[in-house]
Amino acid sequence: MRTQVIKTYLKEKKSVVEKALGTLMLQAEGPFAEHIEAMRYSLFVGGKRIRPILCLAAAESVAQNEKVDQTALPIACALECIHTYSLIHDDLPAMDNDDLRRGKPTNHVVYGEAQAILAGDGLLTFAFDLLSRNDTVAIPPVAQMQIIQVIAKAAGSMGMVGGQALDISNEGKNIPYEALQTMHKSKTGALITASVRSGALVAGATPAQIEALATYGDNIGLAFQIADDLLDIESTTEELGKPVGSDLSAHKVTYPSLFGLERSRAMAQEAVEAALAALAPFNHFAEPLRALAVYIIERKN
Ligand code: IPE
Ligand code: IPE
Ligand code: MG
Ligand code: MG
Ligand code: MG
Repeated sequence: MRTQVIKTYLKEKKSVVEKALGTLMLQAEGPFAEHIEAMRYSLFVGGKRIRPILCLAAAESVAQNEKVDQTALPIACALECIHTYSLIHDDLPAMDNDDLRRGKPTNHVVYGEAQAILAGDGLLTFAFDLLSRNDTVAIPPVAQMQIIQVIAKAAGSMGMVGGQALDISNEGKNIPYEALQTMHKSKTGALITASVRSGALVAGATPAQIEALATYGDNIGLAFQIADDLLDIESTTEELGKPVGSDLSAHKVTYPSLFGLERSRAMAQEAVEAALAALAPFNHFAEPLRALAVYIIERKN
């Protein structure tokens, strides 16, 4: 899939995801309107929507059609809610202390720290409300339970939250490569792999297909965070919509800090190649997944 085609695919799927989020997300009304407004601010302020799009693309690669998107969308939206919560908390003064996200002031800058923490909590919890419904989620209950389990594991202490804890405790330390890899795979890779796995489960994937797609997810997840580390150095705040140089000033351990720019780029490329190799058994319905893997390291924001 050429660059133009993936751009069109991303644009199309992004608008499908935005529309579903608009329908499914809580409305800022009633006694909790102020709290819901804070959740909606970060959710609708922008974002590439990569995790929900990966969920849809994985479902398409297994189902061999795009109709499956309708079934996958509530799951895709839940993934975006969890991701957005992780960003709100990641930006807090006690964590990365950043004041710009998705091109706009961060949640705590607008609503204050306490409300930002609660907006994150609200989004995380709402995701599991969405995932566990039996009206909007139209898949067999066993698959639904598997998806909830996959996402809960990936978002929690053995995944994103655990990785974020490592990220904080590793600040300023000289850690070995394996520890850096573990941190990146958990803080960022876990939710990305869960997005792909849950899309596959929506479409009724076989265990072999799930395994192949999980390998794909693990590798693009790692590549995604290496690319993020590189962009923190090489991009501009304007292009990125978040402050560049944040990692350096917080003494974060990153791929570039351990290996330099060139070697980091090569490592991201290697991970993308491993991801593409894992997709070998899939036909042209996996083209969006292939193009997404390449996009992840070529993206400018
Ligand atoms: C940023 O994620 C946080 C990381 C895990 C690196 P994205 O780059 O997907 O951010 P948005 O959703 O597009 O804002
Ligand atoms: C964050 O990694 C990963 C998350 C789970 C949110 P970063 O701290 O590098 O993400 P950015 O650069 O602030 O988006
Ligand atoms: Mg961080
Ligand atoms: Mg950060
Ligand atoms: Mg970063």
